[in-house]
Amino acid sequence: MKNKNFAKLSINNKTYNLPIYKASEGNDVIDIAKLFAESGHFTYDPGFTSTASCQSKITYIDGDKGILRYRGYDIEELAKNSDFIEVTNLLIYGDLPNKKQLSKYYKLISNHTMVHEQLLKFFNGFRRDAHPMAMMVGVMGALSSFYQDSLDINDPHQRMTASRRIIAKASSIGAMAYKYSIGQPFVQPNNKLSYSENFLNMCFSVPAEEYKISKVIANAMDVIFILHADHEQNASTSTVRLAGSSGANPFACIAAGVASLWGPAHGGANQAALEMLKTIGHKKNISKYIKKAKDKNDTFRLMGFGHRVYKNYDPRAKILKQTCKKVLNHIGIKNDPVLEVAIELEKIALKDKYFIDKKLYPNVDFYSGIILRAIGFPPEMFTVIFAIARSAGWTAHWHEMIEDPVQKIGRPRQLYSGNKKTKYGVRRSTKNTR
Ligand code: ACO
Repeated sequence: MKNKNFAKLSINNKTYNLPIYKASEGNDVIDIAKLFAESGHFTYDPGFTSTASCQSKITYIDGDKGILRYRGYDIEELAKNSDFIEVTNLLIYGDLPNKKQLSKYYKLISNHTMVHEQLLKFFNGFRRDAHPMAMMVGVMGALSSFYQDSLDINDPHQRMTASRRIIAKASSIGAMAYKYSIGQPFVQPNNKLSYSENFLNMCFSVPAEEYKISKVIANAMDVIFILHADHEQNASTSTVRLAGSSGANPFACIAAGVASLWGPAHGGANQAALEMLKTIGHKKNISKYIKKAKDKNDTFRLMGFGHRVYKNYDPRAKILKQTCKKVLNHIGIKNDPVLEVAIELEKIALKDKYFIDKKLYPNVDFYSGIILRAIGFPPEMFTVIFAIARSAGWTAHWHEMIEDPVQKIGRPRQLYSGNKKTKYGVRRSTKNTR
């Protein structure tokens, strides 16, 4: 990072020169790493709205223009021309593979699609009504007890093996969580199939009947996986990086990412968005819910709307709106009331002053749930599918973090606002039995 410019910060009449680093695209950053040592002050930025936590070459987002690129490639081009495994290779290695490299990479990933037999027993310990994300968090973390030959984070070969295992097994574990929840037998992976076809087969085939994989559905699945594969320093990716910064093993780090993704403000929003659309139920009820979303005293928000970074239409939502139409058309769903509500809700919200002023547009979660539901997944599986896709981005960031020469354990500071030194017993709370 070369810098020629400095920002000047004045505290109590003393001026500090803070280096400014130029981004290859997008926002430059001010380096405050030495500020505490030199001035005794921390910076304060809840939710990291102005803080770059690392340097990264993986994904670029321009939230104002609605641009998303992996390693310099526009998301629209990747969704149109690539499949998920090629995109995974791109995210991890930095450029698109040639044909030979891609076919080798396919083999390397598919070598790891099966899970240890002992791991299957884990599922019996879960309640049948457990959320599949609960199983996903637990089983992903448990991989570290089975694959002890890829836990040494200082060995590049072990790191690569671990990341291939994570990407390959994420879809097997996700499919197993689904099968367990509906009481059907697990379906073993079939390495002759593509990643998306294999996932669909593991979820929907049964021993008693043949399952025909539709090209249109498999392609839609690839698009969904590609669009969710990475999104720079979001909450779950930052969680993976933070967990990894202490030297924790890769499976434990990814399990932490899965947990972080589960929240309704992040990956859980796709389930919440579909449930909201179903609750609205009909176009005639939309105005009531728009009113609720705008009411400061109401906790209701339009799920699948708004984004920390995008202050324009999320490019992923644009692609998914088209994919959604293709899938419903292919399945023969002519008038889907949920899609009708979604399209009308989007139309009304985009003309509403509240949403215009706050720059709230549909995000990736707005249409993905409608597609996944049409394919046959229950809402509980939506975030699992997101987690399977994001395992590619998480591992790419985990590699980058470990290989970064300035990497150190992540340890944010705080603005302490609690009690000053207090003598024991002087003060007793009356509220501590809540
Ligand atoms: N509906 C109604 N109002 C909203 C919405 C929404 N979906 N999103 C934001 N706002 C309002 C807030 O009330 C706030 O208003 P104020 O300035 O008057 O207080 C303002 O817009 C800014 O919102 P913040 O919550 O401060 O923005 P932030 O960047 O922290 O949050 C977030 C972004 C979490 C995505 C938010 O827009 C939201 O909760 N959306 C719904 C959940 C969702 O769809 N999440 C998926 C995100 S994409 C992903 O993770 C893959």
